[in-house]
Amino acid sequence: MIDGISQVIYIKATNSPKRVHLKPVNYTLRFEPIFSNFTFLASEVLDAYVKKPTNTIRLDAAELLIKKCSVMYGENTINAKTKLDKKTESLTIHLPKKISGRVKILIEFSGILNDRLVGFYRSKYLDKSGKIKYLATTQFEAADARRAFPCVDEPEAKATFDITIIAEKHHTAISNMNLVSKRQMGSKIEYKFARTPIMSTYLLYLGVGEFEFLTSKQGKVQYRIVTTKGNSKKGRFALDLCKRLVASYEKYFGIKYPLPKLDLIAVPDFASGAMENWGAITFRETILLYDPKTSSTQTKQFIAEVVSHELAHQWFGNLVTMKWWNDLWLNESFATFMATKFVDRFYPKWKLWDQFLEDTMNTAMGLDALHSSHPIDVKVKLPSEIREIFDAISYDKGGCVLRMLEHYVGEDKFRQGLRAYLKKYSYQNAKGDDLWNEIGKAARMPVRAMVNSWIGQVGFPLVEVQTKNSTLILSQKRFVLEKKGKQNGLWYIPVSIKSGKKTITKLVTKRQEYLRFNANDIVVNSGRPGFYRVKYSQDLLYNLKSMIVAKEISHVDRWAAQNDLFALCVSGDEQSQTYLEFADAYENEDDYIAISNVASNLFSLYLRTIDEPFSYMIKNIAHEFFKKVFYRLGWDAKKNEPHTNALLRAQVIGALGRLDDEEIIDEANKRFVKYMKDSSSLNPDIQGTVFSIAAWNGDSRTYAKLLALYRKAKSQEEKMRFLSAMCSFKDPKLLLRTLKFSQTDEVRSQNMHLPVVQTAANYYGKNILWPWLKQNWKRIRVKVGAGSPLLNRIIASISAVATDKMEQEIRSFFRSNPTPGTERTLEQTLERIRINNAFLNRMRREYA
Ligand code: BES
Ligand code: ZN
Repeated sequence: MIDGISQVIYIKATNSPKRVHLKPVNYTLRFEPIFSNFTFLASEVLDAYVKKPTNTIRLDAAELLIKKCSVMYGENTINAKTKLDKKTESLTIHLPKKISGRVKILIEFSGILNDRLVGFYRSKYLDKSGKIKYLATTQFEAADARRAFPCVDEPEAKATFDITIIAEKHHTAISNMNLVSKRQMGSKIEYKFARTPIMSTYLLYLGVGEFEFLTSKQGKVQYRIVTTKGNSKKGRFALDLCKRLVASYEKYFGIKYPLPKLDLIAVPDFASGAMENWGAITFRETILLYDPKTSSTQTKQFIAEVVSHELAHQWFGNLVTMKWWNDLWLNESFATFMATKFVDRFYPKWKLWDQFLEDTMNTAMGLDALHSSHPIDVKVKLPSEIREIFDAISYDKGGCVLRMLEHYVGEDKFRQGLRAYLKKYSYQNAKGDDLWNEIGKAARMPVRAMVNSWIGQVGFPLVEVQTKNSTLILSQKRFVLEKKGKQNGLWYIPVSIKSGKKTITKLVTKRQEYLRFNANDIVVNSGRPGFYRVKYSQDLLYNLKSMIVAKEISHVDRWAAQNDLFALCVSGDEQSQTYLEFADAYENEDDYIAISNVASNLFSLYLRTIDEPFSYMIKNIAHEFFKKVFYRLGWDAKKNEPHTNALLRAQVIGALGRLDDEEIIDEANKRFVKYMKDSSSLNPDIQGTVFSIAAWNGDSRTYAKLLALYRKAKSQEEKMRFLSAMCSFKDPKLLLRTLKFSQTDEVRSQNMHLPVVQTAANYYGKNILWPWLKQNWKRIRVKVGAGSPLLNRIIASISAVATDKMEQEIRSFFRSNPTPGTERTLEQTLERIRINNAFLNRMRREYA
């Protein structure tokens, strides 16, 4: 046993409440949406196997009206009594006598086409002529298939599905599989789809509406982009990339995409970003539709990443599915990791792995450095508990752990293990351990123990480094932003130490390790493959700075050095002045993530101290840094400039606007005026920035212009730009108007959180946001839907506007207004408030 680790006890998350008595085999389902009253009629034949004699059968079901239920077994058919339980969302079927073996359960029922974006729901939009239209679509993950039909709504209860949809003549129907027959039935049309492979209920899909298609074929697979009328052309980019990605994934996994067709469907109302329904992937419109005339580079990149993410799930998640939701993270972190890996193959110039560090890793570390974070592997039972773990720990930390693992075992072994895993568990379910076993076997390395130290315990380590007489001393402890109590935790850390061209690696498993390594010009965690932060001794940090100035170390290592140092300022391990002095080393920095991270750290210091007497000092430093970068970039894109320039330009100009740079403000105002006359005059990459600066310096007349632009905008992407700008005014009255506006029908419930988050980020929104939230909380909950993940985003935004004095008040407000599914987010928000405040107080002492 490796020393040290043996003391750590991992509490394994346990599995679901098993319903051992019933095993579904096939569902025959028939749905008929009725748009006139937003309901649907349905019938079901559930072919199942009853393992033990029983006279009660329990299925998951919610918001359904059961009209008839009978059970067939052998030659017999018996009518059954049913009872729906609202609270447990279940349907109990009572039989006059005990049955077992193969049975068919026949149910006739109706349901609601709701407007809450879960289950079988309706989405509303306006067509070209401004007429109101509806389409019906589904979102079943994690536990909402039960809102469309009675079923065993658990990932392990895999079955096949025969779907029939009856639709009105002007509508088209879509499901997971290809159409096998289409026939007239009275005034309607009946669509019958081929039987699905064996799959989980959460991946089933139904869609009915006035769709438009962009189609293509590759190999034996039919591809379609599905949109509302008039939008299919904007699917070109996603369609082309999708085909290339599928070919690439097939090669990597060694398994062909198993269905005959694949649809990518843009849905006007959509709760999350996208959903990997097998063969019928759904998206928000802004994450699928790309219009070269009006879409930004950022949008294009995001579409590519999300398409790639959902495609990865077609194998990892759909073909092989987690046994229970405690392994949800495996699904999501895997897709997060693969998304970057595969888009990077086609667009290496986008530098997505660099962006992965700046976005994914920073986000993950920011959350996991809180005491109120949670281990990746957590126990979950209730749907509300399942919903809450779709967070930065599952997606982002999980993605980082996989990246670290691939780096540890090597790309080939990682892939070999993965292929073995997918082959072995195809059309079945598996646990995390099954994957670690396969990768461990391929690599002949202690993979399981290493991974378990990262997923079984909360947090991640800080590795402290110092040298003493040609010995390197490395020590590890948990990195937290709020200092309290003793820190537990011990990790298997693959540490690499680089000096010049020489690199050594060592799996650090103890609290402290001594290595013989005679060098002072070292970089630890070079390339940042490891999910940990580094604290260098003073002399090592000094050497590091001179290597940065001389650009003797890689751009990732330059980025990482100050990234860790800044986190250490927030945690109180270092002084902010140390960071500011260190940042001098980046005066001539030319790399995207290094510049972008220094910039956002300086800007964050400015925002934190804006009301302090020493603010001007920090403002000057930030301004000087930004301005220098701006002069290199300019307002307009240069021919063949790097992709990341577009991203950096928006960030830098936006910040200069907020730093009240007059030259920038004048030009932004000019460009806004010009845009009003000719919308093609302004590059989409800086449109959002220009509109926001115009608002920042604007008044109620500017507000009226932006509102009119919002109303007229054709795409949701454009609408969001104007809505953001409407949160960028200085006048609190105008900000309140936007908040109020966000509650109206003109803002989709899926976007309701945006005005809140943006107002929270606006200095002038500080005093109005919390009072407004309190006053409107009940309505907001109704608007976004109880249990919506957007509520978490809204609660999280409070940390930007609250002082520590408000902590008690916020806590007691939510105590008297309990909001299930947001408890952990609230703890994290309160912890962030305390951290921000402690940091500010330390700075006050520093600059006193
Ligand atoms: N499976 C998820 C969608 C999902 C999330 C369903 C939460 C139910 C609850 C999907 O694969 C996903 O991860 N979507 C992301 C897209 C992301 C890559 C931007 C999302 O919706 O945020
Ligand atoms: Zn996903």
